[in-house]
Amino acid sequence: MFYPITRLRRLRLNKNIRNLLSETKINLDDLIYPMFIIPGKSRTEKIQSMPGIYRQTVDNALIEISKIYDLGIKSILLFGIPESKDEMGTGAYSKKGIIQEAVRAIKKKFKDLIVVTDLCLCEYTSHGHCGVIKNGYVDNDETLELIALTAISQAEAGADIIAPSDMMDGRVSRIREVLDDNNFENTIIMSYSAKYASAFYGPFREAAQSAPQFGDRKTYQMDPPNIREALREIEQDIEEGADIVMIKPALSYLDVISAAREEFNHPIAAYSVSGEYSMVKAASKMGWIDEDKIVLEILTSIKRSGADIIITYFAKQIAKSLK
Ligand code: PBG
Repeated sequence: MFYPITRLRRLRLNKNIRNLLSETKINLDDLIYPMFIIPGKSRTEKIQSMPGIYRQTVDNALIEISKIYDLGIKSILLFGIPESKDEMGTGAYSKKGIIQEAVRAIKKKFKDLIVVTDLCLCEYTSHGHCGVIKNGYVDNDETLELIALTAISQAEAGADIIAPSDMMDGRVSRIREVLDDNNFENTIIMSYSAKYASAFYGPFREAAQSAPQFGDRKTYQMDPPNIREALREIEQDIEEGADIVMIKPALSYLDVISAAREEFNHPIAAYSVSGEYSMVKAASKMGWIDEDKIVLEILTSIKRSGADIIITYFAKQIAKSLK
C-alpha cells in the first residue's frame, strides 16, 4: 500500500503518538555507571579530560552512590587505582586491595546495588600492560593465574558481576572454574568479549593512570577493522561460560553489536567509553551541540543496534534528565 493511502507522517503527528510508537527506549535499569576509586580518605580528584567524572576515595564514593541510587541507577562498575604498582600487579588480587576494600564498604551499605568489578591488571602493573611480561610479550597463560586470583578476591569481597577486560585467551573458563571451586557459582561473568585496541580509551588512561609504559595493547586487544573475528571472540567466551558478553567501544562498533545480536541469544552489553564521553563534553563546552539531546540520541542508537545493557559515564546525567 502506497501514498496517498499510506502516509507515514501520520505516525509522527505529535509527541504522544511518537512516544507510543517509539521502538527503542532508554531504561535506567539497563545502565551501568563506571566509577574510579583511589586509596585514602575524603579525597576527590578531577579528571581533566572527563569533566563531571572523578577519582575518589571510598568514603566520598559512598556519598555519590547514595545520590545515583536515589536517581534510580542500580549498577556501578568499579575501577581501582592502587597506592603503588609493581611488575606482577599484586594490588589487583590483594585481599586488602583498593577494589576489594571498596566492594566490601559499598555492599555493606547498599546491599542490592549491583556491583560490577573490572578485572584487569593494567591499573596495577608498573609497566601498564594487562598481564605478565615475558621477553617483552604479555604472556597469556601466566596472566591467567593472576586473573584467577583476582577473580576470587573480588568475589570474596562481594562483587555481583566480574568483568574481565584483559583479552587473554581462556580467561572466562579459568574464572568460571575458580569461582565454582570456591563456592561462587552465582557470581556472574560479564566478559569484555570484543574489546578493540582503540584510541577512544585515551581519557580513561588518564583517569586510571594505566597507559602502557612501552608498546601498545595490539597483541591482545582486537584490531578495529575486524568483525568476523569479534564474533569468534564472543563465541569463545560464550562457550567458556560467559553470562553476559560485551562489545567495546560502542559508538564506532554499532555494526559489531548488531551482528552479535543477530548471531547470539546471550545478553549483550556495550561500553560507551571515555573518548565517546569526552568528545561530547568538549563539543558541548564549545557550544557546538545540544548535550542532553546528543547523549540521548547516542544511547538510543546503542540500544537500537541491539545492546541490552549500556555502560556509560552519562548514566547519572541521563537519570536526571529522565526524571
Ligand atoms: C582496562 C580497561 C580499559 C578500559 C576499561 N577497562 C582501558 C584499556 O584497555 O586501556 C577503557 C574504558 C574507557 O575508555 O572508558 N583494561
